[in-house]
Amino acid sequence: MRENWRSKAGFIFAALGSAIGLGSIWRFPYIIGENGGSAFLFFYMVFLFLIGLPVLLSEISLGRKTQKNPFGAMKACGGKTWGWAGKGAILTGLLISSFYSVIAGWTLGYFFLSLSGRVSSISSFTEAHQFFTTLSTSSFYSIFLHFVFLSLCLWILISGVKKGIEAKSKILMPLLFLVLFCLAVYAFMLPGGRKSLQFLFSLQWEKIHPKILIAALGQAFFTLSLGQGTMITYGSYLSSKESIISSCIPVVFLNLLTSLLMGVAVYGMVFSFPTEVTAGPSLIFETLPVVFSQLPLGGFWASLFFFLVVVAALTSEISALEPAISYLVDEKKFTRKKATFWVVLLAFFLGIFSALSFTPSKGISSYSFYEVLSYISVNLLVPLGGFCAVLMVGWQWPKKQVLEQLCPDFKRNNLFFSFLFLCLRYIAPVCIFLIFLDLLFPFLY
Ligand code: PHE
Repeated sequence: MRENWRSKAGFIFAALGSAIGLGSIWRFPYIIGENGGSAFLFFYMVFLFLIGLPVLLSEISLGRKTQKNPFGAMKACGGKTWGWAGKGAILTGLLISSFYSVIAGWTLGYFFLSLSGRVSSISSFTEAHQFFTTLSTSSFYSIFLHFVFLSLCLWILISGVKKGIEAKSKILMPLLFLVLFCLAVYAFMLPGGRKSLQFLFSLQWEKIHPKILIAALGQAFFTLSLGQGTMITYGSYLSSKESIISSCIPVVFLNLLTSLLMGVAVYGMVFSFPTEVTAGPSLIFETLPVVFSQLPLGGFWASLFFFLVVVAALTSEISALEPAISYLVDEKKFTRKKATFWVVLLAFFLGIFSALSFTPSKGISSYSFYEVLSYISVNLLVPLGGFCAVLMVGWQWPKKQVLEQLCPDFKRNNLFFSFLFLCLRYIAPVCIFLIFLDLLFPFLY
């Protein structure tokens, strides 16, 4: 008998815990910067609702109907060949969890250093840049923090405190929103505040480029934890009484809200002190400490912020590891403890290559291991996993069955459901396909 979430709220918080993490807090601000601001945001929002939501619903339905891990779920619904799509999703989750933990390790490092007041004593971007460079280019610190972060995940996963973490996130998640809200308001009041809104919201059509569409789709999937089995696995723990739609809509909205608050917080700073900030993965590590240094009780705010980010990253990393663990338990008959240990160990070894990507000896090619892995997994493998899920539910399942899964007490011919079904069957798969086509044949443009 499979374990179930205790309540619908329990499921929503677990799904939110998975979705809200470094994707919206750390990745969103720098990816939007690299992709021209408002044009990216526009497509990110469109994809979140027109593609992300249908894929999310499909994945949760697949898990709940079959009560299986991603491989078992795809195989049960579509046979052996589809089982491979499930295996691919599990592998993607493992790849993502390996580099995710390296970045999460940095936030853990910043949390420790905030406690001693070091982070909030950083008063200029140059100093923040040096501080971050020292941490991220040290193979010892990066690997050590990656190790500590994964050890925390291992402890949470095998000691049974996972449910406790979920319960605590009912308090910590609203607190995270509150802190992000305060940061965004503060940054908005800076001289560059208005410019940040312009950068984020005033759409410039001429900036639209296929590269932006790929990045926006990848980011929408990444922030919703799609395409790599997490939501299939979480769906398999959801009781059959609950309405999937009403559980998923808050996840999409709150996820978007987190990204927007971070966007305003970071770009309010960037436009207030324009020339000194370098973009890329270091962005939030180089802007936020300067904000904290200007606030009264800066050490407290920095510690609270990085603590909440570490918790958000923990709940996401755990969910990225979960598909591989449930696969080993269900299909290979491992005990949960043994499965967890092996999966975490694998993520640790793989993650070492990403950790080393930031050190000066990153290799001879112009792209680092981290850059290649993160691009391939987020922009290619994740949408591919989502594509398979949406095809399975949209095309292999009868419409009645889909509606019954999504909302047990559904009303037929409801306009909303007709539109949703249209997205599920046509809009989502066709858009993903077209974006892929561009990725594979960029010369078409
Ligand atoms: N959604 C998480 C975030 O935005 C990342 C994640 C991806 C977690 C895939 C699990 C699976 O931080």
